[in-house]
Amino acid sequence: MLVTHRKLTPGKLVIASHNAGKVREIRALLEPYGIEPVSAGDLGLPEPEETGTTFRENALLKAHASASAANLPALADDSGLEVAALGGRPGVYTADWAERQAFEGLPGRDWYMAMGKVEGLLAEQGPDVDRSARFVCTLALAWPDGHAEIFEGRAEGRLTWPPRGKLGFGYDPVFVPEGRTQTFAEIPPAEKHAISHRADAFAKLVSGVF
Ligand code: IMP
Repeated sequence: MLVTHRKLTPGKLVIASHNAGKVREIRALLEPYGIEPVSAGDLGLPEPEETGTTFRENALLKAHASASAANLPALADDSGLEVAALGGRPGVYTADWAERQAFEGLPGRDWYMAMGKVEGLLAEQGPDVDRSARFVCTLALAWPDGHAEIFEGRAEGRLTWPPRGKLGFGYDPVFVPEGRTQTFAEIPPAEKHAISHRADAFAKLVSGVF
């Protein structure tokens, strides 16, 4: 089926995220396309509550909120980790599992706590548990007139323990992509950008809108 996407012309594009790790990766991925990325944080845009129950709903919610507040096209990424043995959890709640408020009554996010929670649930299933997992990335590109385009990417792999590596962000230290032995946090950024779920979604975005 031939799908026609609205084209994105060179100029300013809001990166509708307040997550520094994501903003850094999205900037690097957009660099070659004559796009001037500005982050929602730099523009002082409010961070909408992620009330959706799917990656798609949350990505659209963030992209539309930034596009209308800034009167510019806006790109949002909603992503997460789906663990096979946990029935796809944490999924859309991946960031929430790191909220210290929920588990420790403190502000901020603790990725080691979140990775430990996933590992604890896997360990409950015994030493032969299926450790396969995937990262999912849904990109929503929205324009101020309400039009939006969606692109979805995946990176398959398995979870390791203990965490390894200092690069990347979030759950990178426990995720070993398919065909590799290093975790995402041990793989140099340029290489991660070639094989990640975000790279997969971006490849689709680039072929659709540029
Ligand atoms: P949200 O899309 O802002 O709801 O958050 C998704 C969460 O998934 C992030 O905060 C990270 O913890 C995790 N995540 C998404 N992409 C990656 C990645 O490339 N590496 C590690 N963790 C990721």
